[in-house]
Amino acid sequence: MDETKLHEFMGKVVTDMGGAWMMAMVLIGDELGLYKAMADNQPVRAEEVARRSGCHPRLVREWLDANAAAGYVEAADGAYRLPPEQAMALANEDSPVFVAPGQSVVAACFMDLDKLIAAFRGNGAFPWGEHHHRMFHGTERFFRPGYQAHLTSSWLPAMDGVVGKLQAGAKVADVGCGHGASTVVMAKAYPNSRFFGFDFHAPSIEVAGKRAADAGVGARVSFVPATAQGYAERGFDLVCFFDCLHDMGDPVGAARHARQALKDDGSVLLVEPFAGDSLAANSNPVGRLFYAASAMVCTPNSLSQEVGLALGAQAGEARLRAVFAEAGFSRFRRATETPFNLILEARK
Ligand SMILES: C[S@@+](CC[C@H](N)C(=O)[O-])C[C@H]1O[C@@H](n2cnc3c(N)ncnc32)[C@H](O)[C@@H]1O
Repeated sequence: MDETKLHEFMGKVVTDMGGAWMMAMVLIGDELGLYKAMADNQPVRAEEVARRSGCHPRLVREWLDANAAAGYVEAADGAYRLPPEQAMALANEDSPVFVAPGQSVVAACFMDLDKLIAAFRGNGAFPWGEHHHRMFHGTERFFRPGYQAHLTSSWLPAMDGVVGKLQAGAKVADVGCGHGASTVVMAKAYPNSRFFGFDFHAPSIEVAGKRAADAGVGARVSFVPATAQGYAERGFDLVCFFDCLHDMGDPVGAARHARQALKDDGSVLLVEPFAGDSLAANSNPVGRLFYAASAMVCTPNSLSQEVGLALGAQAGEARLRAVFAEAGFSRFRRATETPFNLILEARK
């Protein structure tokens, strides 16, 4: 036993323990409007943050001290300041790095812990729909900033000839659409196109319909409860899978179904968590985040479905390419990427 290595490792564990507690602090701050109450870049006393947010002053001070100790806010002379960079991540709803509400995904995993432990002891299956409700809203809030920032400005333009079709009027499927964050972003950007969102989780489809109506695109967007292998609509110019193919029990079946539903010159947009092709390549901060999510969310969900391929959220491009080759696609390429996503294109 190497004493120095033990101390180093305990330092890492304590850092991670603090991080886990801080994500709960972030959710409290987000839901109570505490970060927003101090998003003007000015020093402010705890009592004033409490007054602005209508919260208990003593608890708010303790929450601020925790944030100061973590480097999330600055503290000086009895006042606290949320720097603009932190405000982008924690207070600004329109920022591309607004990560605060997405932490509900982690919260849901803690609340589902007993059921997840049973799945590990049992057949590994834990269906998406049985998660705590924070999972569904958290997923929407976690992914939406990325779709808003990248989908129409870089991901779709990186595909071969797709933007022209969308501008002229295309028929688009968003498979595994969840609350429809990606569907609504595309529908707003391409008013001549028609969109169909499919998901087997009926409560999510219901929320997605409300999101489209609120965004004023309800007339051009239909949300239908259906599995990725079961929707009946055909003749699509574009079929999209956003952060969902690896969650499916039968991704080859889903890709084969997409192939049948596509026009001959149609395209598949496959957005997956960023990953290399090996554990070594994924042993980094983003990879460890996705492996953990995969062990508690994506892989147990896949195992709860027919086939149960259990690709995992760190499948990587080579494995995903094999899925599409098996489904009969002849072309597959990386269109672009971000630190969090692989953007892949498949053609018949
Ligand atoms: C991680 S969520 C992503 C949701 C959405 N695409 C987004 O980016 O916000 C995965 C989604 O895949 C859906 N899903 C999983 N397996 C499915 C299947 N076999 N058929 C249809 N939807 C499925 C789940 O219901 C869930 O909404």
